[in-house]
Amino acid sequence: MTASPLSSPHLNPNVLGLPPSATLAINERSDALIADGRKVYKLGLGQSPFPVPQCVVAALREAAAEKDYLPVRGLRPLREMVTEFLHRRHGLERARRQVLVGPGSKELIFLTQLAYAGELLVPSPSWVSYAPQARIIGRRVTWLQTDFAHDWKLLPQTLDAHCRANPGLPRLLIVNYPNNPTGVVCSDAELAMLAEVARRHQVLVISDEIYSDLDHSGRAASIAHHYPEGTVVSTGLSKWCGAGGWRLGLFSFPAELEWLCSALASIASETYTSVSAPIQHAALRAFAGGPEIEAMRKKQPYYANVQLPANTYKGQTAPVDTLAVMAVWATHDGLSDQMAYEVTKALFENTETLGQVHPKGKEISLKTALQSVSIPLHPGAEKYYREKGLIK
Ligand SMILES: Cc1ncc(COP(=O)(O)O)c(C=O)c1O
Repeated sequence: MTASPLSSPHLNPNVLGLPPSATLAINERSDALIADGRKVYKLGLGQSPFPVPQCVVAALREAAAEKDYLPVRGLRPLREMVTEFLHRRHGLERARRQVLVGPGSKELIFLTQLAYAGELLVPSPSWVSYAPQARIIGRRVTWLQTDFAHDWKLLPQTLDAHCRANPGLPRLLIVNYPNNPTGVVCSDAELAMLAEVARRHQVLVISDEIYSDLDHSGRAASIAHHYPEGTVVSTGLSKWCGAGGWRLGLFSFPAELEWLCSALASIASETYTSVSAPIQHAALRAFAGGPEIEAMRKKQPYYANVQLPANTYKGQTAPVDTLAVMAVWATHDGLSDQMAYEVTKALFENTETLGQVHPKGKEISLKTALQSVSIPLHPGAEKYYREKGLIK
């Protein structure tokens, strides 16, 4: 007797054995334990510690009755607002409405991998989902090596050497600054040099800038300023606005890449149709900005500052009013991004104490900041937590 096709996994070979995204799996497991009344220190998903601004929550409430399917590219006023936002906040010049709204930037990155016929280039290390997305599609990933000596930044010569070895191929490069997992940002000059190489080899670039609105030292540099015609900017509501669970991401295209935007919109129209209507209406409020949102953003540097140098934790000091007190996602100092998230959240909850104990502007180290709010965290913290039985 032959086995029933229902009793064994008849799966696309690309998907056979594909585990759920590690971070999501940990998150779901820990939520289940919390629901059972267990105390869990979450070391999984990189949730943003910031609250969604109240005015944005109110906008969502008001939009609860919005029930119709929306245009596949997104609500027209939202696309216009996002274009304005990218101009106001990031100095990005894009034609109005050259924006695609999707259910998270993760999905839009996936759709691009699906749509684009070319070699996929990903710097190593990189965020955990780019490579599994490629696997689902059956696409090979070409890793571009980075190193500690250069702060794990993708060097122009690395990209150049790779492209020269096999010139003329269509290529898609994903860059991500501020970076997950390293926390590093590139300077404008570094990105200009990378852009020059990308332009020379006509590489299509996705610039994953999901963390750029957490750069509180000024405007985060973007490769799109130097290579606008070949760069798709990827961002969304998940980090600066604290609304990861709302699932709203954005791609901004140059006019030259309208063909790509249009292909992605076609795939979207046959799959998810459009992003949830109430969420799009609320996003309109988030991207409009204004005093309430600015006030919240001004508070954020207390909690996270992805621009702090990697060695801040190693005894260096920073003024209390800019003290993050460390990058939420920086892992340089032996702290996992999830642990850094826990630290940041704890400091977030203790901002007032920090402000009371230390006068504004006083230079203190991260270690002092943590001690001031009674958080016993130092290099080797995970060991400490493990010994205390707080994590397994
Ligand atoms: C580097 C990076 N890109 C993209 C995403 C996904 O963002 P979204 O919530 O818009 O799908 C994340 C989320 O953790 C991320 O770390």
